[in-house]
Amino acid sequence: MSYHNPFTPPRKSATFDDHTLAEIRRAAATGIYDIRGAGTKRKVPHFDDLLFLGASISRYPLEGYREKCDTTVTLGTRFARKPITLKTPITIAGMSFGALSGNAKEALGRGATIAGTSTTTGDGGMTDEERGHSQTLVYQYLPSRYGMNPKDLRRADAIEVVVGQGAKPGGGGMLLGQKISDRVANMRNLPKGIDQRSACRHPDWTGPDDLEIKILELREITDWEKPIYIKVGGARPYYDTALAVKAGADVVVLDGMQGGTAATQDVFIENVGMPTLACIRPAVQALQDLGMHRKVQLIVSGGIRSGADVAKALALGADAVAIGTAALVALGDNDPHWEDEYRKLGTTAGAYDDWHEGKDPAGITTQDPELAARLDPVAAGRRLANYLKVMTLEAQTIARACGKNHLHNLEPEDLVALTMEAAAMAQVPLAGTNWFPGKGSF
Ligand SMILES: Cc1cc2nc3c(=O)[nH]c(=O)nc-3n(C[C@H](O)[C@H](O)[C@H](O)COP(=O)(O)O)c2cc1C
Repeated sequence: MSYHNPFTPPRKSATFDDHTLAEIRRAAATGIYDIRGAGTKRKVPHFDDLLFLGASISRYPLEGYREKCDTTVTLGTRFARKPITLKTPITIAGMSFGALSGNAKEALGRGATIAGTSTTTGDGGMTDEERGHSQTLVYQYLPSRYGMNPKDLRRADAIEVVVGQGAKPGGGGMLLGQKISDRVANMRNLPKGIDQRSACRHPDWTGPDDLEIKILELREITDWEKPIYIKVGGARPYYDTALAVKAGADVVVLDGMQGGTAATQDVFIENVGMPTLACIRPAVQALQDLGMHRKVQLIVSGGIRSGADVAKALALGADAVAIGTAALVALGDNDPHWEDEYRKLGTTAGAYDDWHEGKDPAGITTQDPELAARLDPVAAGRRLANYLKVMTLEAQTIARACGKNHLHNLEPEDLVALTMEAAAMAQVPLAGTNWFPGKGSF
């Protein structure tokens, strides 16, 4: 006898969906939690939920082929004796050597340099490849101190003190043993082939007062020349931005939950942190309340893919953005061209489920010398430069259509939201209304 109702097809639970069931089975079979790279895969309110209004009778657009729309940005104008000026506000986010191959780091440097922007080191230290090929290189000072070298602080053009990342605010990173080659082990002063955890907090300070002292030390070491950034994961953006300013930052880097990572627990990536869209306005509000908007620059990252995303982040008040995942895709990562090989790894191009494993067929997230040699850093750098150029042109096109002669003149008033959630988070009106939920409060 069948209990199945013949009139309706079997119905699966929205709570216990296929992915959830598979995860329960995986956990039951292995007894270990899932580790992976990249950012959240769940859908959260994002820049796609915003639209630009463009010019009309009340606004006069700029002519694309004749009238200038400036894209330059200067970072570090508060205290640094040598602020850095970039031709485009799209920077390359910190990604570690260890997570990425030497060739990939070189390609990032080449691409960014052609485009007139900066690259950033990452956990594990500075490589000669990236210093040699990056005109402007930001050196990360991380909780792990892996690869930290005071000489490299002086070889850098700016310093980024990493407090947290959007993919895992409050959590540390991971680098699995298969990616710990002799060179990576040597730079990190740790054994080869053994899984490494990066600490979640700095060893020598506990709060903003100590951070202020640390920043003073870094300024002394670098003769007050280099801009000092503080990077935080999107958690409490109003207070974190205010405290970063209080601690003496020249630049605040704010990384929302869509931000990529090389490897961490899936439960972290999917359940901790705030969407990038929700982080920007509180951070800008903090800067405005302190009279520091545009004096302390704000770099936003986490899920930036296009010139439209860039323009939207800037319209909400950011000075620049940083990209990680999209830069790797531009280099050639997760390209369908390698699909057969991704299948052999049990994944598919575009799922980014291989980043932590070190067997990347595209030669980017690997330390295997044969795989790494597949990436031509010159050609990959050119692809990245093309992509950065296109994004800059797209942002410029939108800014001109809104009548702005600098990307920084874009403003919240240029935007409307498609959903109530996006209206509340971005604090711009729901399209067709003059209203957004929660006006005036965070
Ligand atoms: C492969 C990879 C390695 C990363 N390594 C670091 C790191 O060493 N330090 C750090 O602060 N952030 C690291 N990140 C995070 C990026 O700096 C950045 O916050 C994030 O990628 C931005 O989001 P997006 O990937 O959506 O552009 C890494 C990200 C990726 C994808």
